Amino acid sequence: MTDITQKTGPRHVAIIMDGNGRWATRQGLERPEGHKAGAEPVRAVMRAARDCGVSMLTLYAFSTENWGRPKDEVQGLFSLLVKYLKTELKELVEKQVRLRAIGDIDSLPHSARHALGAAMAATAKYEKFTLNLALSYGSRFELARAARLLAEEVASGQRDAQSITPEAIGQKLWTADMPDPDLLIRTGGDMRLSNFLLWQCAYTEFYFTPTLWPDFGEAEFKAALESFHSRERRFGLAEAQG
Ligand code: IPE
Ligand code: IPE
Ligand code: MG
Repeated sequence: MTDITQKTGPRHVAIIMDGNGRWATRQGLERPEGHKAGAEPVRAVMRAARDCGVSMLTLYAFSTENWGRPKDEVQGLFSLLVKYLKTELKELVEKQVRLRAIGDIDSLPHSARHALGAAMAATAKYEKFTLNLALSYGSRFELARAARLLAEEVASGQRDAQSITPEAIGQKLWTADMPDPDLLIRTGGDMRLSNFLLWQCAYTEFYFTPTLWPDFGEAEFKAALESFHSRERRFGLAEAQG
């Protein structure tokens, strides 16, 4: 294998961690066991990402549409999140990982908001590597919210409609100060975005794998980076201009 650490990028990797439920079913287990098993690949991928010089890892942990799942499953997911945040905080601090979140955080259960707030505050000073959790995240919600914020500024005379550029919209998204993802990985075999970072992925490279999230790990993460490095990103320009 070539030494991927010697090449540039990707700076920001986003992952749709899908397939926990199917993993559990295939093992004859209940779905929550799949979600539980999904914590280990998070650790492994975070380690691998840091080792490979990635500076931001965004994980799709809960979508706006996931609120429609059975109440027990939703509750179980948030108690796992609280457990994860509590047990991993020490490691995040040790490894100097900054924790951030995107999504409608106000809609999360109190315990999750609390654990998230504490972990974000304790790691806010770290700059080299960011773990960004997408929680109650949906791109359409995010874009509608941005439109609403801009409309309010126009209505109050703070800005005129002509100033609504792509940059102005980007500044109203939860990702305002984050780079767009260079690489997006989706596990679980489906080739769709499921309302994840629709705006931000305009020029992102995609890597889809049938591997179910609990089976994903360092080796396949590195394979995804290899695939990324083999691609030519043209950003709409002609080949010779790249
Ligand atoms: C991803 O696994 C985790 C979340 C969406 C929260 P799923 O729970 O969607 O697992 P599958 O896709 O049903 O196998
Ligand atoms: C996407 O997975 C959301 C997360 C991984 C958090 P879903 O399982 O919700 O997506 P669909 O329903 O297959 O599109
Ligand atoms: Mg799924």
